[in-house]
Amino acid sequence: MAEYTLRVRRQKPEADDRGPAGPYWEEFEVELDPTLSVLDGLLQAKDRQDGSLGVRCSCRAAICGSCGVKINGQSTLACLTQIGEAQERANRLARETDAGADGDGDGNQPIVVEPMGNMPVIKDLVTDMESTHWKKIRRVTPWLIDDGNPPERERIVPPETMVDITQTIACIQCGACVSSCLSMEADPDFIGPAALAKAYRFVGDPRDVDTEARLNDLAQDPHGIYDCTHCFSCVDACPKGVAPMDQIMRLRRLAGHDHDIDDRNNGRRHETAFVKIIEKKGTLDESLLLQESYAQGIKGKLKPSKAAIKGLLGSLPTAIRGIKTGKMRSLPKLIPGIHPKLPGDAQDHVKRIYKHAEEHREELNLYISGVEDDEPAEVGASAETTVENAEERRDS
Ligand code: SF4
Ligand code: SF4
Ligand code: FES
Repeated sequence: MAEYTLRVRRQKPEADDRGPAGPYWEEFEVELDPTLSVLDGLLQAKDRQDGSLGVRCSCRAAICGSCGVKINGQSTLACLTQIGEAQERANRLARETDAGADGDGDGNQPIVVEPMGNMPVIKDLVTDMESTHWKKIRRVTPWLIDDGNPPERERIVPPETMVDITQTIACIQCGACVSSCLSMEADPDFIGPAALAKAYRFVGDPRDVDTEARLNDLAQDPHGIYDCTHCFSCVDACPKGVAPMDQIMRLRRLAGHDHDIDDRNNGRRHETAFVKIIEKKGTLDESLLLQESYAQGIKGKLKPSKAAIKGLLGSLPTAIRGIKTGKMRSLPKLIPGIHPKLPGDAQDHVKRIYKHAEEHREELNLYISGVEDDEPAEVGASAETTVENAEERRDS
């Protein structure tokens, strides 16, 4: 047994004799084995100290998806996080901050528990999943659209054609990815990682007949697949290995590459511009990015169309903000041709990596394990089989 301090961000929905409505912090001392979970600690605090502490849970085994919270700033499941490990992380974070440098970070630090982000808080650690998570899930038509000719019995598909979507099927709808999504912080209308992973579950299903319409819808929506900034937060947060960002990238590849969908958000062209610049230069020359995004395919010369000029002008405020905040290079360095070179032969290395990636399109699906009687497959071989299966399915 060990003692821990849980520093919980609580939220009072209404004013009461303890003060006005709103958020406040409260600390609870709990005593339990380090291998037990943060959820066990919260339930002990609720049981022994304050029965009004709001926390949602059911299975206590990382299955139902009810207990999503932020622990030490990381969105996750409270029942899946061992309290001993949470303590170590709290201590490490304190050592890495000023508190640690001042010496205040010595000893055990409180484990910080907060409600999930990007969602309204109902009470304490209980968030409103309906207004953000479930609404967005419904947005992507989360059911199978079949060909309208129901078979006498079930629709039978070869098991290998389902491998491609097993990763998304593993989602337990906990909302941890939504809570951690940086794009959603900036654009609350972004469809978001959980719903887009769900969308791939049906786009990748061989029985669904609406693939083209689904992809077109998600590509044309200004808050759709091109709104993701590829930040990996949802991949880190997901407790079930769904890797929502990977599913979004699959949707993008299907939309832009395989189905040739030219979206009105310029997302596909912007993405192609990144790839083209890296291929040619081995580094991201931002001076070419706007030009290539809006006036692609004119042999590197800036001869933008009317729409391109409109797009370029529309991007100016963003560019100025980028320069001011140091995210983009200063104006002189934006002039094509004077982009600084990477040291040594780093750019040639990047070009070689690019070439290798082009020649070896591999998708690693964590849930591929093969058939029981099979020889254990090599990872590369499984991945290639998956791609072949997916491609065969799409071609048929
Ligand atoms: S990778 Fe995309 S979907 Fe995932 S958290 Fe970042 S912005 Fe959101
Ligand atoms: S994708 Fe992962 S983090 Fe997101 S809702 Fe599903 S299980 Fe939770
Ligand atoms: S209580 Fe079910 S996932 Fe944590």
